[in-house]
Amino acid sequence: MQNVLITGSNRGIGLALTTAYLGRGDRVFAACRNPARASDLQALADTHGSQLVILPLEVGELDSIRAAVALIKEHTDTIDILINNAGINAPQEDQRLDYIDFATMTRLFRVNSFAPLMIAQQCLTLLRRSHHPKVINLSSEMGSIAETDYGGWYAYCGSKAALNMISRLLANELSRYNVIVAPVDPGWVQTDMGGEDAELAPEDSAAGLVALIDGMTPIDSGKFWRWDGSQYPW
Ligand SMILES: NC(=O)c1ccc[n+]([C@@H]2O[C@H](COP(=O)([O-])OP(=O)(O)OC[C@H]3O[C@@H](n4cnc5c(N)ncnc54)[C@H](OP(=O)(O)O)[C@@H]3O)[C@@H](O)[C@H]2O)c1
Repeated sequence: MQNVLITGSNRGIGLALTTAYLGRGDRVFAACRNPARASDLQALADTHGSQLVILPLEVGELDSIRAAVALIKEHTDTIDILINNAGINAPQEDQRLDYIDFATMTRLFRVNSFAPLMIAQQCLTLLRRSHHPKVINLSSEMGSIAETDYGGWYAYCGSKAALNMISRLLANELSRYNVIVAPVDPGWVQTDMGGEDAELAPEDSAAGLVALIDGMTPIDSGKFWRWDGSQYPW
């Protein structure tokens, strides 16, 4: 049994990852902004009991991150897998050159780029107690500089590209503690963010991600992965 911390676990890919890890017997610390309104997580708690711990977490606030880690410490001294899944986008129109502003840029970078780093920082002591610790950051193909042939989307694409660099730097710094760190693209997924025309069901993306994460060894750290186990160009 592994201890898995998943942010943004109340819907979308985070909920599918939570369901997948619970289904195979792992313990999930399911973090979300508002546990009282997380009805799908509450339903999972009815089935899985103490295997699921639901935690309040606003990823953009250090006090909230610290409080969530303190709650986890009441249950365990070890996190095996941290999945920084919580993420946000903004309407395409708001990200065109004419409309983009400091507020949108800051909001998306805070949640998509800065929060995963601060959560990893606050979880490091718990991660270092794991035999095979992993930090998995939900990035996007829209964060790939090499593949980008369109304009606009400054906040979302910029924040995911920044997350990729942050993941690479973190992988290098934490290699001395054997912590594997990797940004992963979940594919285009049918969620509130991905929309109903997306290619993948959340369960299929989650199944691919779980298999990918299971198979990661230190040589895979600091690389940009896709949900299907292939590598993605930076
Ligand atoms: N869907 C896709 O096609 C796709 C493609 C590439 C990458 N991704 C990435 O995959 C991850 C999950 O995406 P998704 O499609 O599942 O998105 P989603 O359906 O929009 O769900 C986003 C999740 O993040 C949470 N969240 C947002 N801001 C938060 C904050 N400040 N603090 C805590 N939680 C917060 C949301 O919580 P609330 O319910 O409280 O808002 C929700 O649980 C994201 O990082 C996204 O960028 C998605």
